[in-house]
Amino acid sequence: MRAPVRVTIVEVGPRDGLQNERSVIATADKIAFVDRLSDAGHGIIEVSAFVSPKWVPQMADATEVFAGIRRRSGVRYTALVPNQKGLERAIAAGVSEVAIFAAASESFSRRNINQSIDESLTTYAAVCADAASAGLRVRGYLSTCFACPFEGAVDPAQVAAISRRLMDIGVYEVAISDTIGAAHPGQVPRVLDAVTAAVPLANLALHFHDTRGTALANVLAGLDYGVTTFDCSAGGLGGCPFAPGAAGNLATEDLLFVLNGLGVETGISIDKVAAASRFIGLQLDHRLPSRYLQAPRLGATNDA
Ligand code: HMG
Ligand code: MG
Repeated sequence: MRAPVRVTIVEVGPRDGLQNERSVIATADKIAFVDRLSDAGHGIIEVSAFVSPKWVPQMADATEVFAGIRRRSGVRYTALVPNQKGLERAIAAGVSEVAIFAAASESFSRRNINQSIDESLTTYAAVCADAASAGLRVRGYLSTCFACPFEGAVDPAQVAAISRRLMDIGVYEVAISDTIGAAHPGQVPRVLDAVTAAVPLANLALHFHDTRGTALANVLAGLDYGVTTFDCSAGGLGGCPFAPGAAGNLATEDLLFVLNGLGVETGISIDKVAAASRFIGLQLDHRLPSRYLQAPRLGATNDA
């Protein structure tokens, strides 16, 4: 299997993880969670989402979370924005960059952001133009790239076409996302073959949820393909309130355990991420899904 010397990790736990929790998590605990993740060596942390608080009440304190975090030099603190109102709030909060989020299937686009795919790309084109004027880079998520909870199979040609349109409106990277954790390692190169005909591989990231236990295997398929940016979530938190059946993201600890074993550099301490996960886990009403966290500690860790 091919593996690069180093990969870029995007930590989405404070956003993708906490957006889906039943418990009300205190703003101070969210802030402490982000600070612990930056202390662990993360270079990119998705802190929150400037979305409608009526749609996602768990992210209503995005401004306060940004105001409270201790910013480490060199760390990029990012947030989702669904529209220009979200972008204005994000800029006022002092984000390092923002992320927009489109879908490859019409039904999920409608359920998640109440817009068709075309409508959303019109909205996002305006967001990208305003972000560029403000000097902010924009990441683009593309949901339901491997399956849609409402439509089932999604055509890789559609994933490629919308990825291209996201690049054309100005995103620097498309996160090819498995929203409901349905991808398997045989599918990863098939989808990437289609997408790389339209977008350079260097502009792609992979974002896997782990509903069926295939997320790590999918990362290995992605590494072998040459992908070098992967999303994950501390403790394996995650899920989308508008995607029935979606479980948590690939756990950061589980990913780091494998990358460390393969000798792939990340610059992130697995022990410190695990401590951050245990900290936020105390605020939740369920056990964290990370397998690494549930396993007995090894005498000597293979920490970075
Ligand atoms: P809408 O109801 O169609 O829009 O929502 P609207 O423009 O009519 O706005 C409704 C109300 O929300 C208005 O307030 C707006 O002002 C307000 P009212 O006049 O009723 O008092 N509003 C806002 N407030 C604060 N910040 C904003 C904002 N925008 C509007 N930015 C909208 C459309 C897109 C806003 C809504 O559907 C929304 O916020 N959706 C977000 C859904 C979401 O966050 N989903 C989870 C994240 S995506 C994900 O998890 C997938 C990902 O991880 C990748 C993967 O795994 O696939 C990224
Ligand atoms: Mg997600």
